[in-house]
Amino acid sequence: MDWGMKNRFSRLFNQKSGKTVLFAVDHGYFMGPTTGLEDLGAAVKPLLPYVDALMLTRGALRSYIPPQADIPIILRVSGGTSILNKELLREGVTVSMEDAIRLNASAIAFSIMVGADFERDTLLAFTRVINEAERYGIPMLAVTAVGKGLNRDARYLSLATRIAAELGARMVKTYYCEDFERVVNTCPVPVVIAGGKKISEKDALQLAYNAIQAGAVGVDMGRNIFQSEDPVAMIQAVRAIVHENIPVDEAYEMFLNLKAR
Ligand code: 5RP
Repeated sequence: MDWGMKNRFSRLFNQKSGKTVLFAVDHGYFMGPTTGLEDLGAAVKPLLPYVDALMLTRGALRSYIPPQADIPIILRVSGGTSILNKELLREGVTVSMEDAIRLNASAIAFSIMVGADFERDTLLAFTRVINEAERYGIPMLAVTAVGKGLNRDARYLSLATRIAAELGARMVKTYYCEDFERVVNTCPVPVVIAGGKKISEKDALQLAYNAIQAGAVGVDMGRNIFQSEDPVAMIQAVRAIVHENIPVDEAYEMFLNLKAR
């Protein structure tokens, strides 16, 4: 990694813990105004002090986030499908590298669909973007395993994350599963977990805790934060697990106390 790449990549992490709490609000590119993100700016603003970086689309960044915001950006550069389309996530390139640089992205994100009929399309588009991003020292966060009907077990997730890393991703986002250590241990770059569909706050905190114990470098959660009963309380509890390694019960207690205030 050259100095620029190292500098951009290190901005995604808490320098003390070496881990990261990423906040994913990129859902609109295929889900539209999903619950909790109807006003994305209002949803994000109170959480910015507690997240290490924000993952979102070009349009959301320009429309909802003030340029004065002191927050590293992970810019989603793939898309082209919607939840109405059966071929969800047959994604292609939606943002030019020039625009990613202009938007001062610290990293870019691209979804690959390993195992789909159109996996080749997404994997080759993914590598074309990496080839360009590496020229400018911009790290790629691969997003794997989003979508329905996938058997998100350790076998599939270790395949998808390893393919992403072998093709040049500098970090990979995937989902937690049983035997997650296998996924982390066979992936040569850092792994973060998405939260997936909204579950109870206690279960989401357990998910984050289990992933960190299994070797994930952090989380890149969305719905389990912005659809929480109290997103500001929830992000602080997640942060305590990721950066201070506190036990789940204590984190959940923290969530309840902050929510009660
Ligand atoms: C969807 C995404 C989201 O960023 C990812 O799913 C994380 O969000 P959540 O925690 O809500 O699953 O990339 O394509």
